[in-house]
Amino acid sequence: MTRSSQPIWIGPSILSADFLHLGQQLDDLAEGGADYVHFDVMDGRFVPNISIGIPVLESVRVGTALPIDAHLMIVEPEKWIDAFREAGADSITVHVEATVHLHRLVTAIRETGARAGVALNPATPVAAIEEIVPFVDKILVMTINPGFGGQAFITQMSEKITRVRALIDRVNPECRLEVDGGINVHTIANVVNAGADTLVAGTAVINDRATVAANIAALRTALA
Ligand code: DX5
Ligand code: ZN
Repeated sequence: MTRSSQPIWIGPSILSADFLHLGQQLDDLAEGGADYVHFDVMDGRFVPNISIGIPVLESVRVGTALPIDAHLMIVEPEKWIDAFREAGADSITVHVEATVHLHRLVTAIRETGARAGVALNPATPVAAIEEIVPFVDKILVMTINPGFGGQAFITQMSEKITRVRALIDRVNPECRLEVDGGINVHTIANVVNAGADTLVAGTAVINDRATVAANIAALRTALA
């Protein structure tokens, strides 16, 4: 197990937000110490759910100064890069399973000025991203099957994170290693010890059990 040498970032997913009070929730995230906002886009085709898209992203851009990370769980992501960039995404993450010409796609993302990320579903082998790591700013290891918040962390993904960490350290140490799905006070130390440095958390941060600030603080305490 090798930890990342990068500072740890926590990015709450607003999939768990109360959309009636989204502006307030964004203020809570900034004041509570979030490092970025994770924005989950689902199309009902790549994943069996439909979530939020471009108009909501435009509003989130107005409502926060935090960096916005758009996680595109959509087919044909290449059609939508410019639109998500113009709507305010600072980084755009696409799934390796959703496109044929991945190098062309991540190059197009970077040409907009956004940071480029590539995500892998739990069953997708690490070999699928081996050749793209030198060209991206982030690899996202899904630790659940994408589509819904609040699912349980798939424990076998820790070992996969370790292998992605080794790959990143070997070919592109600046690249971040993000994890998404089931990250909470019980799982966070495990994924960081395995090598993750960029942590998405939805239901663990935005819930009715405690404030956003208290929940983020609890995650950081669990890491210490
Ligand atoms: C699921 C999304 C995740 C999700 C995480 O498809 O990509 O970002 O919101 O939610 P939790 O942290 O509750 O697993
Ligand atoms: Zn996500």
